[in-house]
Amino acid sequence: MAEGIPITRRPASPEQVERIRAAVHGAGQLGDSRLARPEDAPGLYALFSEPKVNAPIYSLPRPLTVENVRAFIEDHIAQRERGEGLLFVRDSGDGQIMGYSDIQVWPEWAAGEIAGGLHPSLHSKGTGTQGAAQTFTWMFEALYLDLLCETASLQNVITQRMLDGMDFRRMGQVTSTRPDGTTRESLVWEMTREEWAARG
Ligand SMILES: CC(C)(COP(=O)(O)OP(=O)(O)OC[C@H]1O[C@@H](n2cnc3c(N)ncnc32)[C@H](O)[C@@H]1OP(=O)(O)O)[C@@H](O)C(=O)NCCC(=O)NCCS
Repeated sequence: MAEGIPITRRPASPEQVERIRAAVHGAGQLGDSRLARPEDAPGLYALFSEPKVNAPIYSLPRPLTVENVRAFIEDHIAQRERGEGLLFVRDSGDGQIMGYSDIQVWPEWAAGEIAGGLHPSLHSKGTGTQGAAQTFTWMFEALYLDLLCETASLQNVITQRMLDGMDFRRMGQVTSTRPDGTTRESLVWEMTREEWAARG
């Protein structure tokens, strides 16, 4: 659970709220990633079991089991129905999942957040920064959001460098609660549609 975010809360008009919900509900593809299906549970479990993937991410299923990952996927299918969330996977074609994107949307604030990860074999080669930039543009353009809010743990230097390097604004710190009730401190960043467009 992500309490306390987004930090900036500007109510969206009823028309924009409906437009965002419809866009989330209708989304089917994010770059080379497709929507997660229940049968992806074993492949996604393998990705989430990588310590370099699960250590920095508070929103992953805990305890981490194939069944809990299946429930996580099914919950995201229900979130998409409501227009509030999406789960995408990058499928290598042979059953291995090489990355995932977990998009949380707050239609009432025209705001969204993405959590995600790549397989460790792909880390530190610029792939994450490139993919994140494309996803941020997609969230503004295809989901009609006005604000992105991102978090990272105090130890997650790679994500901190990525967000600072993309000119996200640091907004302080919140406590994030994992599905098993344990907590961790998170740094928070935000980026508006106007700020993102001005980067060119
Ligand atoms: C976060 C993640 C998607 C970033 O993708 P990536 O391809 O590994 O990162 P990049 O190669 O684009 O590097 C991003 C920045 O971190 C720096 N960096 C990369 N590896 C680093 C390392 N081992 N130590 C310190 N800095 C590092 C890069 O130099 C770059 O900073 P710069 O632009 O100032 O030079 C990926 O590392 C990942 O999946 N991590 C595990 C899950 C996670 O932390 N998710 C984010 C929280 S939801």
